[in-house]
Amino acid sequence: MGVTEQLSLLVRLYRRKVPTSGRKLMGSLEFANRTAVVTGGASGIGAATAQQLGELGASVAIFDLNEAAAAQRAADLRSNGSDFTAYALDVSDDQALAAAIAQVAVRTGTVDLLVSCAACFISAGRDATRSDWDRVLSVNGRATTQIEVVA
Ligand SMILES: NC(=O)c1ccc[n+]([C@@H]2O[C@H](COP(=O)([O-])OP(=O)(O)OC[C@H]3O[C@@H](n4cnc5c(N)ncnc54)[C@H](O)[C@@H]3O)[C@@H](O)[C@H]2O)c1
Repeated sequence: MGVTEQLSLLVRLYRRKVPTSGRKLMGSLEFANRTAVVTGGASGIGAATAQQLGELGASVAIFDLNEAAAAQRAADLRSNGSDFTAYALDVSDDQALAAAIAQVAVRTGTVDLLVSCAACFISAGRDATRSDWDRVLSVNGRATTQIEVVA
């Protein structure tokens, strides 16, 4: 079963509320020798996902706006013996995204799995500007499709 089919199975099981933990289910999938890109991998859900994929044998590329945090996260995770690299970029920047994906592909020969966790929010409420909205939609929405286009 390929990674795409495995993830599709994961989603179907989740929707059916099959009583199995995500960690147990991920452990049953095959990530060894796969290359994963995790956006927003410097913190929160992305960082936890990156760590788990590394523990399961994947080579993980962390894409994050926060260069220092991404580099630190990758260094911390490498110390556990897994293969982590950090790329500092804004996922809503199409050229930077394509360039980073190309670098990963050159380094590992393939990109098998994409996990989009990079996100930003509007805290200004009614004072939010058009530019604020454009940014949120671009990062949280459009970039999640664009990364599939370039990968
Ligand atoms: N944490 C929760 O309880 C929760 C619950 C439901 C949904 N979510 C969703 O999950 C996603 C991640 O949440 P989180 O708690 O891990 O957030 P987080 O703030 O901890 O992590 C987001 C990461 O994305 C990075 N990032 C932001 N904009 C970026 C950009 N333009 N390019 C590259 N990297 C960028 C940040 O630097 C950060 O490292 C969000 O979409 C959030 O809405 C979170």
